[in-house]
Amino acid sequence: MVAPILSVRSVAKHFGGLRAVDDVSFDVLPQQIFGIAGPNGSGKSTLFNVMTKVPFGPTRGEVLLNGRPIQGLSPHRIALAGIARTFQRENVFASLSAIDNVLVAVESLVPTAPFAEQLERAEEALALVGFPATMQNSPAGSVPIFYRKQLMIASALALQPKVLLLDEPASSLTGPEIERMKQIILRVRDNGMTVVLIEHVLALLMEVSDQLLILDQGRVIANGDPVTVTRAPTVIEAYLGVAHE
Ligand SMILES: Nc1ncnc2c1ncn2[C@@H]1O[C@H](COP(=O)(O)OP(=O)(O)O)[C@@H](O)[C@H]1O
Ligand SMILES: [Mg+2]
Repeated sequence: MVAPILSVRSVAKHFGGLRAVDDVSFDVLPQQIFGIAGPNGSGKSTLFNVMTKVPFGPTRGEVLLNGRPIQGLSPHRIALAGIARTFQRENVFASLSAIDNVLVAVESLVPTAPFAEQLERAEEALALVGFPATMQNSPAGSVPIFYRKQLMIASALALQPKVLLLDEPASSLTGPEIERMKQIILRVRDNGMTVVLIEHVLALLMEVSDQLLILDQGRVIANGDPVTVTRAPTVIEAYLGVAHE
């Protein structure tokens, strides 16, 4: 049996009386694309927040990377240990060039490496997501949204993570752009990484996910193979019912 690369154990995050994440447990296997879906406000982004401690850790529960608990680590150490994430909103350093955005991440991983090596790593990360070389010197804030999303993923990849957490990478994209995003996600996995993918675009999730977990009001209501999960009556009621309104 293959050991999980990532285990989330009874994780909860409470905001006062609100249980944004409520006793969530799941395992992710190496090189899986593990999909997470659920209605707005079901706790998906909060789950990524508490897993990475950006900006806060869980109220209770633990997260294991290759069997080792990580909550004792600082957010920076968690990233360097191998869990990198992107955000639902494209947070790039708008005034920095595209390549400098990725260099910020490279520098945090290998601060003492010669600049030529850092540059090579940054260019490799940009190439992996297909960011056009001709736009490397453009200010990140001025490039179109698809490129900002590529940039955010490249910056995460520059940390050479074992596990990449993607929070709604397809939001605000056109149909053809979603197809390109799908190819990026598959390429990341083919490069040996494990991907946890939160996505509202269900078609994309169904196409790429090896396993699918559904959250509703902070709780796991289904977890299994994507076809079975999306046919479960509880899921149709909680999630698909909402999506088809
Ligand atoms: N920092 C916060 N303070 C208070 N409530 C929050 C905070 N972050 C998220 N929430 C609440 O937690 C619930 C889950 O939010 P979120 O994880 O963003 O959902 P999703 O990503 O599934 O749309 C929502 O009710 C949201 O309003
Ligand atoms: Mg969210």
